[in-house]
Amino acid sequence: MRRIFLEKKEIHKGSLVLVNRNHALPRQIGEGQLRSLGGSVSMEKAAAAQLGRLLERKREIVCVSGFRSRKEQEELYLRSLEEHGEVFTNKYVAEPGHSEHESGLAVDLAQRGAPPDLIRPSFPDSGVCRSFRKKAPWFGFIQRYEEGKEAITGIACEPWHFRYVGFPHSLIMQKKGLALEEYLDLLKTGGELIWKYAGRRFQIRYVDLGGKTSIFAEIPERRAWRISGDNRSGFIVTLF
Ligand code: DAL
Ligand code: ZN
Repeated sequence: MRRIFLEKKEIHKGSLVLVNRNHALPRQIGEGQLRSLGGSVSMEKAAAAQLGRLLERKREIVCVSGFRSRKEQEELYLRSLEEHGEVFTNKYVAEPGHSEHESGLAVDLAQRGAPPDLIRPSFPDSGVCRSFRKKAPWFGFIQRYEEGKEAITGIACEPWHFRYVGFPHSLIMQKKGLALEEYLDLLKTGGELIWKYAGRRFQIRYVDLGGKTSIFAEIPERRAWRISGDNRSGFIVTLF
């Protein structure tokens, strides 16, 4: 076994961090961890690489918004309040500090040629947009705000907002019909999750920090692994 040393501050990092109304992101991602998606739109490097693969030969899809600084989220939020009022804003725009866009792990997509809309871009469930949505979980992406999950996510259905959580988590969430909040609760309380897919076996386990300032995660020798914080109370260890 290898022992991986994990510090409390690292719970705010990784592809599975939960960022929502109840869980702020204490600090935004560093510029050095971002990669351009073209124009002024950027995303966290691993997410950008997977999105690039997913968008190959899909020229009809445009990246409207990726990483946003806290200041940009604040400007968007205040402008929305002014133009659309509180009810609309609370449905579609996260408060500054509470947006997944500040993590660099979220992207808003639009169908090329649709009327420009920064808050609610048009990404229909047809044609190339539909095929993107179907393929996304194989590349680590989920549609983050689904219809029927509004009470859990705190946000209205957003067919344009995709969140990188990494594979196989994206596929498991899709197959089980779970929002990120529900998936993380399952990992935290449900014990180790074993997922078999295409001859591969994944083991996913939750390591609770339990109020400590650091902890060790045990990783079997010769296994590929990844660790992400959950931005709440611990870490998700994925063995490939
Ligand atoms: N539209 C999503 C909720 C955001 O502002 O982060
Ligand atoms: Zn978005």
